[in-house]
Amino acid sequence: MRSHFCTDLSEANVGDNVVLCGWANSYRDHGGIVFIDLRDKSGLIQLVCDPADNAHSHKIASEVRDEFVLIAHGRVRLRGEGLANLRLKTGAIEVVVENLIIENRSEPLPFVIGDSSVGEETRLKYRYLDLRNPNAFQTFQMRSKVAIAARNVLDRLGFLEVETPILTKSTPEGARDYLVPSRVHEGEFYALPQSPQLFKQLLMIGGFDRYFQIAKCFRDEDLRADRQPEFTQIDVEMSFCNQEDVIRVAEELITGMFAAAGHTVTTPFNRIKYSDAMEWYGSDKPDLRYDLKMVDVIDIFARCDNEIFTSIAANPKMNRIKALRVPGADLVFSKREMKSFEDFVRKFGAKGLGYFQMKEDGLKGPLEKFFTPEDLQLLIERTGMEVGDVVFFGAGDKKTVWDYMGRFRIFIAEHEKMNLIDKDRFEFVWVVDFPMFEIEDGRVKALHHPFTMPRDLNHEHLEDIESIAYDIVLNGTELGGGSIRIHKQDLQEQIFKLLGIGEEEAREKFGFLLDALKFGAPPHGGFAIGFDRFMMLLSKKDSIRDVIAFPKTQKASCIMTQAPSAVELTQLRDLHIRIRESAK
Ligand code: AMO
Repeated sequence: MRSHFCTDLSEANVGDNVVLCGWANSYRDHGGIVFIDLRDKSGLIQLVCDPADNAHSHKIASEVRDEFVLIAHGRVRLRGEGLANLRLKTGAIEVVVENLIIENRSEPLPFVIGDSSVGEETRLKYRYLDLRNPNAFQTFQMRSKVAIAARNVLDRLGFLEVETPILTKSTPEGARDYLVPSRVHEGEFYALPQSPQLFKQLLMIGGFDRYFQIAKCFRDEDLRADRQPEFTQIDVEMSFCNQEDVIRVAEELITGMFAAAGHTVTTPFNRIKYSDAMEWYGSDKPDLRYDLKMVDVIDIFARCDNEIFTSIAANPKMNRIKALRVPGADLVFSKREMKSFEDFVRKFGAKGLGYFQMKEDGLKGPLEKFFTPEDLQLLIERTGMEVGDVVFFGAGDKKTVWDYMGRFRIFIAEHEKMNLIDKDRFEFVWVVDFPMFEIEDGRVKALHHPFTMPRDLNHEHLEDIESIAYDIVLNGTELGGGSIRIHKQDLQEQIFKLLGIGEEEAREKFGFLLDALKFGAPPHGGFAIGFDRFMMLLSKKDSIRDVIAFPKTQKASCIMTQAPSAVELTQLRDLHIRIRESAK
């Protein structure tokens, strides 16, 4: 129907006859002349309906209200002297309407399109109206272009796009499954995939060599700003490869996806061992846009005259005493503020937060009296203190110290008085050499998933076994991860055993995989990138919901369709399900 989108037009089109289609973003009646801002996905342009030019279209224009659907035939002209609207891309021109059609009417909207003060709940209830905002369109346009770029890169590298089932069996990725009851098989359930992990491995055993998929995944887990119950992965698997091959493909893919959004990234990305990431940054997803690196001072504190520290220092395998130097902090934070930081870390299990200020005449602070002048000097050298700096100390069991000092590092970087984060930077880092297992409440769990290849099983403690697993981290967010997989049946069985999965359970849950591993499985590995997270970071949005067309709330519901919802009793009966009274 249309000849142009609104913002296709410029001064170059002055005198052209055009047909525009869209919505009335706003209308104004100025002394008998009606002005309408017409909006389509591209943006706005002003329509002018002057009774002197065309009485009929002026009459129709006077009926127009916000969000009416319009088709306007007219001629482009320059706006009058001094009337240009610099805030509009098309602000120098307007379209004099010769024929106006009201294609559909609209009731008054629950909110003004693009009004950022409207609560998210209202915007999600009327998501289709929220999406009319050209800014939202641009976000999804970028998402589409980046997805197409991903497909093109992977196609060029010889990867085959294959769809794997949605109605399937549990694929463990550490969350709860969404289950779908079967009508035909009474009392039995499908699980929605947490990832296509097992199917992509089976495709390698099927000889496809290189697979990818832009795959929907489903995880019933606690939601946060960067998590949704259903989300999209760019999922990749390849055969006869080692970690370097996989990383090279991932870097080429990410580079291509960023290029589609107009950004240049440099490869190879930095790498850091998991153990270093924890010791230096207290996190396996460090934000490297800023420095702030912790150092070990447990050996120095072991000699101090304070029993709290010396008893912690007595067990250096389990405990840590970490120092975080914050350059210039003494010049911007008051003593009271520094004390208040203690309240922050206490929320994460810290017993306290010691600190020293670096003055002209050396380290000063409440802990000073416990150290010899030599050890104070050593602390200065170890932490690189300069006048005006403050060094903070965390002491306790290593997991707690890593956690709260890691959070404190971010807290300081984000603090308005420090402002250490360059929001325009994209800082990638591979975190490699993850431990294979973690022990939580006495139970052994796979840190990645149970199909990850261990590097070497010959260790006394399970926790010391490393895996060939890697995560890609961008600006402190885990963007994706992967591993080299186990391709031999006996090793897979051994790992299940170490994870406390008995033979029977392993057969029942993963019998098909164990069988497949018997028939000549090639060495293989891969990775998956969280595409929604990727788009959230790339488009600098605060919430993953901004890059998903129809997202769910923090409570995993869709306000617009009101899913999940009750169903007819007959439907439940067909599914052999009865709802307990108490559940209603
Ligand atoms: P993993 O579980 O690390 O690996 O998932 C890969 C990436 O998916 C994204 N992601 C999520 N995004 C939004 N909402 C969620 N609830 C959510 N959960 C995960 C993250 C994460 O890094 N099968 C393996 C990959 C492999 O080994 O090849 C897997 O799924 O960005």
